[in-house]
Amino acid sequence: MITDTFGRVHNYLRISLTDNCNLRCFYCMPEEKYAFAPASKLMQVHEIEQLAKLFVANGVTKIRLTGGEPLVRKDAPKIIEALGKLGVELAITTNGVRLHEMLPELIAANISTINISLDTLQPDKFLKITRRDLYHRVRSNIELLLQHNIRTKINVVVMKGLNDNEINDFIALTKHYPLEIRFIEFMPFSGNKWTSNQVVTLQEVLDTVAQKYEALPVEGNPHDTAKHYMIPGHAGSFAVISTMSAPFCEGCNRMRLTADGKLKNCLFSKSETDLLGALRAGDEVLPLIHNTIKAKAKALGGQMDEKFENLDAAALQNRSMITIGG
Ligand code: GTP
Ligand code: 5AD
Ligand code: SF4
Repeated sequence: MITDTFGRVHNYLRISLTDNCNLRCFYCMPEEKYAFAPASKLMQVHEIEQLAKLFVANGVTKIRLTGGEPLVRKDAPKIIEALGKLGVELAITTNGVRLHEMLPELIAANISTINISLDTLQPDKFLKITRRDLYHRVRSNIELLLQHNIRTKINVVVMKGLNDNEINDFIALTKHYPLEIRFIEFMPFSGNKWTSNQVVTLQEVLDTVAQKYEALPVEGNPHDTAKHYMIPGHAGSFAVISTMSAPFCEGCNRMRLTADGKLKNCLFSKSETDLLGALRAGDEVLPLIHNTIKAKAKALGGQMDEKFENLDAAALQNRSMITIGG
């Protein structure tokens, strides 16, 4: 078992497959010209498999693939196939653009849940946020998942003045579709120009929903990032990921492997451990994993102790979101 000094068992591994993406969302990528990591720096299929096996042998029961956009990697089908054989829960977070091409592989690997990022239901706003005209493709791929009865969550990063006027349009989708809509508080990462007044908080989401619907809280599991709600008579549900206004670190069970093979003990950790370098050098990797998790801070990478309204985002030491994978 991989445990931190606060007694939290870490059995959930998020593996980023690439820092590349076929969209250009401004809140995820640094504004200045961004150079994607060269292929030689990325974990290769056999390396991902080898590291994943080591984590599974030490208690990991769930793996989520992330990016950038995980499905832009040409060998994504091979990776999905290899990880599907490990006998643990396999999930993926994707922008949905290439889902129709990879669905057979994902189904064959027994994928448990597909989380799709979609911040707006308006095609012109989608283009503004992502700088790509692919709204209808993403929507049709969501339909495809529903046709296949695949559990689907929709990630909506809510930002003031951008899409906070669409909260109840997303809720309306849950009336007939068994989707889980997750409203996410905007988080600060390197290069994303975060300011506290852009954040739409859990309470603000609930207040907005209450203008039109009666939402009831639903008990979640202790490791959830999301606070869950249902609306009587709706096929789907909604949730809020409230990192900034109401963090949920007490139940944290997560570790992150970046596409270049570095282990992060928190989404906001300053330090990282080069597992890929050790693997390639023939060094022992397991002690590095244990030491990294033992060094984990109690909450938010130890970097956000003040109220989020007072946070100096420029002082945070971290990567950009596109290189972490969420
Ligand atoms: P499941 O709980 O497995 O469904 O996944 P998830 O919701 O954690 O993963 P997803 O990749 O869909 O991420 C949704 C949002 O939650 C993104 O904004 C992530 O950055 C954020 N997130 C994921 N894991 C963590 C975490 O450990 N801490 C915090 N603060 N945010 C997280
Ligand atoms: N704050 C909150 N969520 C973010 N995501 C990307 N950048 C941010 C941010 N700055 C979300 C994406 C994706 C998930 C992996 O993280 O929308 O769904
Ligand atoms: Fe875990 Fe860090 Fe996320 Fe808190 S912010 S839940 S400690 S990964």
